[in-house]
Amino acid sequence: MANVAVIGSQWGDEGKGKIVDWLSSRSDVVVRFQGGHNAGHTLVIDGVTYKLSLLPSGIVRGGKISIIGNGVVIDPWALAKEIQYITDLGIMVSPESLKIAENATLILPLHQRLDSLREGLSGDDKIGTTKRGIGPAYEDKVGRRAIRVTDLANEKTLVNKVNKLVNHHNIVLRGMGEKELNPSDVLKELIAITDKILPYMARVSIILSEARKAGKRILFEGAQGVMLDVDHGTYPFVTSSNTISPTALSGVGQNLKALNFVLGITKAYTTRVGEGPFPTEQENETGEELGKKGHEFGTNTGRKRRCGWIDTVMVRHAIEVGGIDGIALTKLDVLDGFETIKICVGYKLNGKVIDYFPIASEDQFNVIPIYEDIKGWSDSTYGARSWNELPAEAIKYVKRLEELIGCSVSLLSTSPERDDTILVKDPFED
Ligand code: GDP
Ligand code: IMO
Ligand code: MG
Repeated sequence: MANVAVIGSQWGDEGKGKIVDWLSSRSDVVVRFQGGHNAGHTLVIDGVTYKLSLLPSGIVRGGKISIIGNGVVIDPWALAKEIQYITDLGIMVSPESLKIAENATLILPLHQRLDSLREGLSGDDKIGTTKRGIGPAYEDKVGRRAIRVTDLANEKTLVNKVNKLVNHHNIVLRGMGEKELNPSDVLKELIAITDKILPYMARVSIILSEARKAGKRILFEGAQGVMLDVDHGTYPFVTSSNTISPTALSGVGQNLKALNFVLGITKAYTTRVGEGPFPTEQENETGEELGKKGHEFGTNTGRKRRCGWIDTVMVRHAIEVGGIDGIALTKLDVLDGFETIKICVGYKLNGKVIDYFPIASEDQFNVIPIYEDIKGWSDSTYGARSWNELPAEAIKYVKRLEELIGCSVSLLSTSPERDDTILVKDPFED
């Protein structure tokens, strides 16, 4: 029996949703363990597109259990809206198929407001967040004043906690010269949404332990990517959670033995949304072409994604700190038609060649990529479902990447469609 975690190995949007959906046919339980509705995971099944933010990507397959773990920050209004959205698309969501951890932290409208206010006040120093309130909600969690899912079940506790939380935030709002909050308004809003959330509340950690004992397979679905990890990414231009694989366990209440294989999702080039360093960014025709062919617009915010060549120094860093055992290489088809493809194989920093991803933010901004040129291919790889359909140059590109990152390709994706996927080595059987 093997359990698999899927994490992003770049700055998010690598195609995790598509791969989780594909892998979910081989698993029984799909569980989200960090992040919140800052994520945007796209699934395309028989021409129908599903855009998920909070719901695990396994929700679209019948007969699977979808779980939102304690490590996720949940905006109850966003969740209720997403449940409605997916129900309208003909997917059944019930307390049997969806379970939400009692100890997950809630995102409230005040977090969203604070996120937007801060971004607005930061000028050139802004992070370019999704303005979903993710950072402020995680701050309240570690500040030990957050409201959790279980608090919705006890009005007396909720009143106390809302009062404390609002007191804290009013000090901040006052300092910013902003209108203060009325605790009874915050309470009223929360009470009004309670019925939409509580039916799904469950003892997630226990459910997962029982699933393991029964020999069921668990698929852990990460959000964002290692380069957005609050410790190991391009800090401070990161999200507010750990996105590396151990979070799959702490974020659902499981121990180290519950995870057997970590699949890193890697785009065949690189994209980033928001501010921050991006060594291989192409602010030129190449970047435009990658963005156009790859439809690189945020799933959630619609923002144009910054585009550039693949950076194997960075992916190697992600593989090391992320604990990645194999990768799923996505969007290979987007490189079709490029005469030459560049791979970043090292950096120059202050005149010296380095082969690692530096930690200091100024160094991350200052590194100059060293490229290796690879001959492109003119034939199409779009929709390929076997190695035989790939041009020789495309195979060479994949092989060279494997060599440089020191990790094998387990899956290869050649279009947004679920089944346009080449299985090289099954992560569940590894
Ligand atoms: P996630 O956040 O990692 O789940 O990725 P997103 O869904 O935000 O962005 C990935 C985008 O690429 C989505 O629009 C997917 O439908 C699309 N996609 C995924 N895999 C492939 C692929 O192999 N080829 C192409 N052309 N598009 C893909
Ligand atoms: P998925 O799961 C890409 C980025 C934001 C911003 C930074 C901080 O779809 O890959 P936040 O709102 O989290 O405080 O924003 O992180 N970001 C993402 N970029 N994909 C995501 O998720 C992202 N989630 C957050 O653009 O730069
Ligand atoms: Mg996304």
